Amino acid sequence: MAILGSTGSIGRQTLEVIQASDNLEVCALTARNNWQLLAEQAKQFSPQALALAEAAGVTKLAPLLPPDIRVFAGGGALDQLVRATQPDVLLSGVVGAAGLTPALAGIECGAALALANKEALVIAGAIVMPAAKKAGVDVLPVDSEHSAIFQCLASGKRSEVRKVVITASGGALRDWDDQAAAQAGVEDALNHPTWQMGRKITIDSATLINKAMEVVEAHWLFDLSPDEIEVILHPESIVHSCVEFCDGSVIAQMGPPNMAMPIAYALHYPDRADRRDTPLDLPSLGSLTFRPLPPRCRRAVKLGFEAIRRGGVAGAVVNGANEAAVGAFLDGRIRLGRIVELVEDALDRTPAVDEVTLDALIEADAWAQQQVTAAVA
Ligand SMILES: NC(=O)c1ccc[n+]([C@@H]2O[C@H](COP(=O)([O-])OP(=O)(O)OC[C@H]3O[C@@H](n4cnc5c(N)ncnc54)[C@H](OP(=O)(O)O)[C@@H]3O)[C@@H](O)[C@H]2O)c1
Repeated sequence: MAILGSTGSIGRQTLEVIQASDNLEVCALTARNNWQLLAEQAKQFSPQALALAEAAGVTKLAPLLPPDIRVFAGGGALDQLVRATQPDVLLSGVVGAAGLTPALAGIECGAALALANKEALVIAGAIVMPAAKKAGVDVLPVDSEHSAIFQCLASGKRSEVRKVVITASGGALRDWDDQAAAQAGVEDALNHPTWQMGRKITIDSATLINKAMEVVEAHWLFDLSPDEIEVILHPESIVHSCVEFCDGSVIAQMGPPNMAMPIAYALHYPDRADRRDTPLDLPSLGSLTFRPLPPRCRRAVKLGFEAIRRGGVAGAVVNGANEAAVGAFLDGRIRLGRIVELVEDALDRTPAVDEVTLDALIEADAWAQQQVTAAVA
């Protein structure tokens, strides 16, 4: 398996899952610039190759490695590593648009794609899903909500599905009033009540743009129309999502709020891993609660539905605008409430394209980033 983004939250949890299993082997690991952790992981998992997306760290990394490990560095390093190692499974835990072309490289090589990097589908689901179908490879969701939907869908035929229900924890600011949430600081927004994740997705959870992206992700993964997708609030993060069938049955998937279970499901698919983790203790949970999204959350989630309805490069615009706006928020240059406004502005001005090609999508993502950067400046 190649683990892209092995130094991040998903990547580290993936390596824990691999360590706990006796039939999974690592062939490649990657980071952006965390060469120290990458070197430690290389010692522990003995991959054939490593990649660092920012070349600066490579002079420090190389002396720490055994001589037979290949190292790729700089722009395109992840794509090169995937092509050189030809993994059976490519797990992408890279954050942001940087995960797109390595995922496509994996599909080209015939690797099953275990995808945590939802941005690849938000930008270019129109390219990734047909490419996977043509190559005959599985796209296995790692996002817990989509892993849940994938598992629930096994309970019936596609023609029997009425809708999928994606659950949202509500993020760090779930119980804040609108005005306070709009002014929230970085530390407040990073203080997620139920999930330990990387910084970008934690901010995306606080703004609820994470759910907008998950709506687009569900559209591409499961070929769902906007009318077949609903998002509700579930603060405990135990029910990861549900599918309602035509007879009114609602099948839900439950698990603890960590990523080990969906990661293991994707890595062992179509089997289930025999894992020794503590299962859910239902009596100790007491009660689970569900409620409709409040208006502030609905406004953010609407961006996902709108991106699907508009089609073309709209998903790429939402992703690019959000990536730049989250960066500006984390740098202290805008308040939290501006993020959704900036993404809405960019989406309203989505450029028309003659044809939805990979280049057009990548350009639209970059265009939206520039629009937000200029607006912030
Ligand atoms: N964390 C979760 O629980 C969770 C749950 C569901 C879905 N996801 C999705 O999984 C993806 C990863 O999230 P995360 O929370 O694991 O993020 P993270 O902790 O920030 O880790 C990101 C990883 O990607 C690498 N990376 C960052 N920028 C890169 C670039 N430009 N080129 C190549 N590599 C780059 C990082 O390397 P460095 O360490 O060197 O910076 C790190 O290994 C995101 O798409 C997120 O939405 C995450």
